Amino acid sequence: MSDKPVLELRKVSHEYSGRRGIFGHSAPTRAVDDVSIRVGRGDVLGIVGESGSGKSTLAKIMLGLLPPTQGEAFLDGRPIAGMTRRQIAERVGFIFQDPYSSLNPRQTVGTIVAYPLYLRGEGTSAQRRERAQKILDIVGLPTRFLEAYPSQMSGGQRQRVAIARALISRPKLLICDEPTSALDVSVQSQVLNLLLELREEFDLTYVMISHNMSVIQHMTTHVAVMYLGRVVEMNVSERIFEKPRHPYTQLLLNSTLTVAPGAGVPDLRADAAARQTMREHPPYIVLPD
Ligand SMILES: Nc1ncnc2c1ncn2[C@@H]1O[C@H](COP(=O)(O)OP(=O)(O)OP(=O)(O)O)[C@@H](O)[C@H]1O
Ligand SMILES: [Mg+2]
Repeated sequence: MSDKPVLELRKVSHEYSGRRGIFGHSAPTRAVDDVSIRVGRGDVLGIVGESGSGKSTLAKIMLGLLPPTQGEAFLDGRPIAGMTRRQIAERVGFIFQDPYSSLNPRQTVGTIVAYPLYLRGEGTSAQRRERAQKILDIVGLPTRFLEAYPSQMSGGQRQRVAIARALISRPKLLICDEPTSALDVSVQSQVLNLLLELREEFDLTYVMISHNMSVIQHMTTHVAVMYLGRVVEMNVSERIFEKPRHPYTQLLLNSTLTVAPGAGVPDLRADAAARQTMREHPPYIVLPD
């Protein structure tokens, strides 16, 4: 990687403050703990880890939606903290897990997809519509869907709408948080393959969060394995899959190979001793240069 990284996190942590509730005050949660990551142009960085390991929190930091409580995040070498919403949106788009709740049910697909352009005051309404139509075509939805409402569409079609909306302002980086886990298995691979095709066409860089190791293996160039808020192993994907170094990565791969292929990530919450061993084991991290 010779260019400067598209995305860089330097020793980033995020702590959610404790809440006062009916059972008293809860302790603060360190959801992300001292994470450093570089994502080069064209890379697809997979992030894996069990539920609650901090993946979505990390994604929100990358999108500038959540400020790190320590450390710094950069897009194209510029600190996210100093950027406006609009400057961030020009560089990075996102696709979340649930295509059912992430689209406004009262808006037509045309309005949803063109909305980022509308927000930026770009073009006339006819020009925005034309761009929406073009991008729908690229994600494989016929023009008639411009006037459709999300409720009239399947999960896979809705996720295509979400992808179209993310791409209409032509960001260079897409953050996908479990983009296919709410979809039927038969539709998942169509959406994943679409994302791979778009990578070429739009010269995209991805951060791809998934529970599913076969998705990660299929899609990514690099993998970061998260455990209790930390990155415990990071390397190019082949190395992670051929020669995992950290016991947690080994466990992750063994469980997905032996229990039920593609079933996901083991949940160790019940096993305090295992957590302790895993946490104490030094991380094995190879950052791209
Ligand atoms: N808004 C919040 N306030 C307080 N704690 C939070 C909040 N959001 C997340 N957390 C806590 O931070 C930790 C990391 O959560 P996060 O959502 O980042 O995990 P995740 O890896 O995305 O999990 P999943 O795979 O289930 O989506 C968890 O312990 C969670 O309970
Ligand atoms: Mg999550």
